[in-house]
Order: sequence, then structure tokens, then C-alpha cells
Amino acid sequence: MAIQRTFAMLKPGVLQRRIVGDVLARFERKGLHIVGLKILTIPPLMAATHYAEHKGKSFYDDLISYIISGPVVAMAIEGDEAIQLVRRLCGPTAVCESLPGTIRGDYCLHTNHNIIHSSDSPESADRELKLFFQPNEIVSWDDGNKAWF
Ligand code: PPS
Repeated sequence: MAIQRTFAMLKPGVLQRRIVGDVLARFERKGLHIVGLKILTIPPLMAATHYAEHKGKSFYDDLISYIISGPVVAMAIEGDEAIQLVRRLCGPTAVCESLPGTIRGDYCLHTNHNIIHSSDSPESADRELKLFFQPNEIVSWDDGNKAWF
């Protein structure tokens, strides 16, 4: 098992729906460590940088409009195999494939409003964490509880 850090983001609408705590609780209960957390409204240029790999795809303009449409909650999450684990907790991109019990499976009706993003590889995690967090905004911590997880 390797300790990894990953980036996840609650997209616009999650604050308005008052489900931030419900989603964060899923990561906490799994035993992952939330090591960075902030609310921000993403400027258009930052959105374009974050989603650069999708430029030119049919959904790109909708994706950018959605992500800049309101405040997001950015998270840095740490734990054993955190990148893959957080992706599995989120569920697949297409909401019709997201099973109940996953975040998208429980809270999303439409793929174009799929409420959460998470990094899909170590390279993306590194790039996205650097885009959203200054080094001093990420705080590793230990609670002495490791043996119980
Ligand atoms: S691809 O083509 O496989 O690379 O696309 P995918 O990785 O599944 O999705 C890339 C991001 O685009 C979002 N997405 C959409 N947004 C709006 N409308 C539609 N139809 C749509 N389809 C995919 C998807 O949620 C991914 O963003 P993140 O932030 O990672 O969830």
C-alpha cells in the first residue's frame, strides 16, 4: 500500500444543496485524511487550465460554464491508495453507471451536473493539487487511530 495525496472538488450547487457535510463524511468514515480544504469561485482562466485536456470535446463549453457558475469546495485528501479509492467512492462519470452507495450514485441525476471531480492519476493529482493549493495550505496530520482502520 502506498500513501497518496489526491485532489477532489465539490462542484457548484453542492454548497447550495447543503450536502457538503454528507459528502465529506464519506471520505472521513472511510479513514481517509482531509489535509486541505477551501471554498473558492474558480476564475475562467483557472478552469481552462484545470480542464485543458478536454478542450475541443463536445461537452467542454458546458463543463467550463458549470464549474465557474458558483463556489466549489476544493479538497486535498491523503491515504493508502487515495487516488483510486476516492475515484471509486465518487462513482463513474456517467450518472446512469454510478451505483447507489457512490457519491454520484446517491446525489446526481445528470452527468453534466455530476457534483464531484477527483484526480484520475498521480500526475493529475500532483498538477491539480498545485493548481488549487499553496504548499502551506496542505497540512498532514496523524490521530493515532491508524490501527483501527
Ligand atoms: S473523457 O472523454 O473520457 O475524457 O471524458 P470524462 O473523463 O468522462 O469526463 C471529462 C470531464 O468532463 C465531464 N463531463 C461532462 N461535463 C458536461 N457534460 C457532459 N455531457 C459531460 N461528460 C463528461 C466529466 O464529469 C469530467 O469532469 P470531472 O470534473 O472530472 O468530473
